Amino acid sequence: MTPATSSTTKLKVGVVGLGRLGKRHAENLLRYVPGAALVAVCSPLAAELEWARDALQTVHLYNDVEALLAHDGLDAVFLVTPTSLHADQIIQALRAGKHVFCEKPLSLNLDDCRRVTAEAARHPQLKVMIGFVRRFDASYQDAYKKIQQGAIGSPFMLHSQTCDQYDADGFFVKFAPTSGGIFLDCSVHDIDLARWLLGNPQPTRVYASGVVAIHQELQQFQDVDNGVAVCEFENGRIATFYASRTMAHGHDTMTEIIGTGGRLTVGSNARKNRLEIADAHGIRNECTPNFFDRFEDAFLTEVTDFVQAIRQQQTLALTLDDAVEATRIGLALRESLLTKLPVLL
Ligand code: NAI
Repeated sequence: MTPATSSTTKLKVGVVGLGRLGKRHAENLLRYVPGAALVAVCSPLAAELEWARDALQTVHLYNDVEALLAHDGLDAVFLVTPTSLHADQIIQALRAGKHVFCEKPLSLNLDDCRRVTAEAARHPQLKVMIGFVRRFDASYQDAYKKIQQGAIGSPFMLHSQTCDQYDADGFFVKFAPTSGGIFLDCSVHDIDLARWLLGNPQPTRVYASGVVAIHQELQQFQDVDNGVAVCEFENGRIATFYASRTMAHGHDTMTEIIGTGGRLTVGSNARKNRLEIADAHGIRNECTPNFFDRFEDAFLTEVTDFVQAIRQQQTLALTLDDAVEATRIGLALRESLLTKLPVLL
């Protein structure tokens, strides 16, 4: 990757939230996104600001979103904060006149989604995008293109999974109260892919179930560490989803799309790289350890596209309505999990 060249017309951006993913977005924006200048970051945590002082050097540091939004000349803000804060922070940023990139999912309830879309409608000159990173992955892009070209006839069924490697610390248990549960946190990616790759059909009915295989602490949040779901769409199209927090072998994300004339599979062997090991145990490859290793390139492409769309006044590929719809389906899955009943949409 080559660092971006400097130019006086760069988009001045700020990053809010310097946790697992915020640090990655900040580093990409600082070094690798053409046309972007990272000018400010914000975190309420001293340790994260300390990291930023070392890693990002000349960038201004804030411990409060309001102060970052007031940074002189700021054009756009990246919200990489807990999901429970997304809606209010998007609205706050729009009211301050900033373009907004916000991590997925849009929010934890539909009222918040509606508040965001209403506010965005009041600022048509500002762009808002929710980061469904998989749409920017080269293999998923290729699958989409081939479907558009008719390579598998008419796609009617999709299976998609998001499976994280087991983390004995239970990192995600801490986030259960603010993540929306396994379907909104993990399967929302697969939901968005299903809508995109099946041609945006209307969902009609969902059913979800799940099991706590390891992390019994999740019971108190009515969450599971392994969930499965079926989502029926109009015209008889169907998607099935699987999400797991307990994979032994690594981060295993894959999607299969079946059409009347063929099948496409993305990521069926979640290999770390092209190395194959042959020894006394057989022939094998290692697995991608986490989501960032799997989607590192896509995270950069996603942010680069967002910055370019603003600078060149292009339409975003991903709309706010896409994010609302993914949230709506994710919430229905959670309702089905809790009620043990199918949910009509
Ligand atoms: P994290 O907990 O590691 O980071 C959250 C950050 O928000 C921390 O820097 C924290 O200090 C900051 N924060 C908390 N309250 C704040 C406030 N009031 N104002 C400003 N900053 C505040 O969480 P992580 O894993 O980085 O996730 C952040 C978001 O990114 C979540 O919405 C999550 O769903 C999403 N995400 C998306 C992924 C993807 O594949 N696209 C993967 C992982 C996370």
